[in-house]
Amino acid sequence: MCLKNSKKMIGHVYFAQSEPPQFRTWEIGYVFNPKFYGNGYATEACKRILQYGFQNEKAHRIVAEANVKNQASWKLLERLSMRREAHMFQNVFFKKTSDGKPIWNDSYGYAILSTEYKGV
Ligand SMILES: CC(C)(COP(=O)(O)OP(=O)(O)OC[C@H]1O[C@@H](n2cnc3c(N)ncnc32)[C@H](O)[C@@H]1OP(=O)(O)O)[C@@H](O)C(=O)NCCC(=O)NCCS
Repeated sequence: MCLKNSKKMIGHVYFAQSEPPQFRTWEIGYVFNPKFYGNGYATEACKRILQYGFQNEKAHRIVAEANVKNQASWKLLERLSMRREAHMFQNVFFKKTSDGKPIWNDSYGYAILSTEYKGV
């Protein structure tokens, strides 16, 4: 996602089908350029991805995970009308301590079903 007539990248949205395919579950994720935070661009982009997922890919369920400390991320999921379904304790790490031990993070699991989706 770029600004028109500009090489500035606003952000990336990831959308991929989870295994097994017959469950028709897709996962959404995102990372935006901090210069463009707070404008609703991530919300707008993700709304269009949900629309694409439910209408074009016939997704049954769209899911996402957000670090519990990352309020901007889970607020975005709630703006998309996704439901918090889980609190996963110490399920991921991105960094290790200087002596090589994982620094574990908790995540929230969010989801929305095709039957709950109300459109853009
Ligand atoms: C998660 C992330 C994409 C959220 O970015 P964001 O700027 O908060 O999201 P949006 O672009 O949708 O902007 C929403 C904000 O703009 C405001 N806004 C202004 N105009 C808006 C509009 N037309 N529509 C929606 N929101 C609007 C909202 O009120 C909200 O502000 P608030 O949080 O103070 O209430 C961003 O923080 C990010 O990329 N983080 C790093 C990567 C990351 O954490 N990824 C997730 C891994 S779990």
